[in-house]
Amino acid sequence: MTEDLDALHTALVERLDTTPAIRDAFAAHPRHRFIPDMVWPDATGSPLYRSTDPGRWTRLVYSADAVTIQANDGGPGPRNEPSSSSSAPQVMADMIAAAGVGEGMRVLEIGTGTGWNAAILSTLVGAKGAVTSVEIDPGVAALARERLTGTGVTVHAVAAPPDGEVYDAVIATCAVTRIPSSWTAALRKGGVLVLPWSPHPAAHSTPIAALRHRGGSVSGRFVREGAFMRDRTQRPGDLPFPGLGRQPVPLEPLAVGSVELIGSGMMTPLLLMLPGVRLGTGMRPFQGRPGRIVWMGAGKAWAYLWPDGTVTGGGERALGEELAEAYRMLREAGLPGVGHFALEAGPDRGSYRVVCEAFDGYWEHAVSS
Ligand SMILES: C[S@@+](CC[C@H](N)C(=O)[O-])C[C@H]1O[C@@H](n2cnc3c(N)ncnc32)[C@H](O)[C@@H]1O
Repeated sequence: MTEDLDALHTALVERLDTTPAIRDAFAAHPRHRFIPDMVWPDATGSPLYRSTDPGRWTRLVYSADAVTIQANDGGPGPRNEPSSSSSAPQVMADMIAAAGVGEGMRVLEIGTGTGWNAAILSTLVGAKGAVTSVEIDPGVAALARERLTGTGVTVHAVAAPPDGEVYDAVIATCAVTRIPSSWTAALRKGGVLVLPWSPHPAAHSTPIAALRHRGGSVSGRFVREGAFMRDRTQRPGDLPFPGLGRQPVPLEPLAVGSVELIGSGMMTPLLLMLPGVRLGTGMRPFQGRPGRIVWMGAGKAWAYLWPDGTVTGGGERALGEELAEAYRMLREAGLPGVGHFALEAGPDRGSYRVVCEAFDGYWEHAVSS
């Protein structure tokens, strides 16, 4: 069995699209050594135990996806809301590459989880470097510390970087809207902070930004799409589905239907171009069957885009028109992906600025502290 797992790990490493150094560091730390016996494969229902279904456990561990190792902060719940996981390997490799992690560096990770990413970082920085990882959940931190024995990684069961320490790179593996000042304070000037960011805490995606410390501010490009769990100190709480129970009013139709828009890769660019708007996807009854829609909400205003391009909504803000205008801009610019966008965040600003090289101007996202 162990031999099979090692072979599966080798195949996972070979599939990574990354640098030889990052591939070698992954090769040194088989994923199965970091995933616990109990995992949460489904959105509802019971957990899966390796001892009762080793085949399914192995398929999950050696899939290209994230593996949830804890739901609902370790407590019960109507759904298995992921609260700790092993991230998708390609996403990890891309974040490590974006942070420029190399020999001799001091690296801070926010969100130890299984400890797998920290182990890989420790190999990359080598004996002359150092890796510190902080994890808000003491139980998760304790298990990771055990798994990381012999790697030289220091794990702290806390919610913020250690006071006074400064690192060459910071990698956050939980998503934020407001970048904590303790994260930028932990970064040396010129260092890189890689983090999943979204303009509001209930966003459907959390694209990964690589931000350089430029003294008073941090700024840099988005490097890829992402869908990370939230920093536990910045969760959105329960928010109502926009427009639920309200009378649907027909609005101007869009040039694209919801299913096509979702498949176009433009949902995250739209999120970045629509300040103050919650944007998501969901299922609603459509022509007698469940249909995938794009929904928007801002205050009491809402809009739904349906599979056939029709738009319904209401409220004080013309969300359907805003969506149509942003989509028109994207289409005219050749549908630029998230890698064409960048983020600028000042230390004490109440808003973060998103820019895109395809357009003049910027979008200012208000962020409450
Ligand atoms: C996606 S998982 C981490 C994956 C991990 N790097 C790995 O390799 O397995 C995100 C982790 O962030 C932790 N977390 C959430 N908010 C945090 C905070 N403010 N400080 C430290 N850890 C936090 C969660 O408990 C969770 O374990």
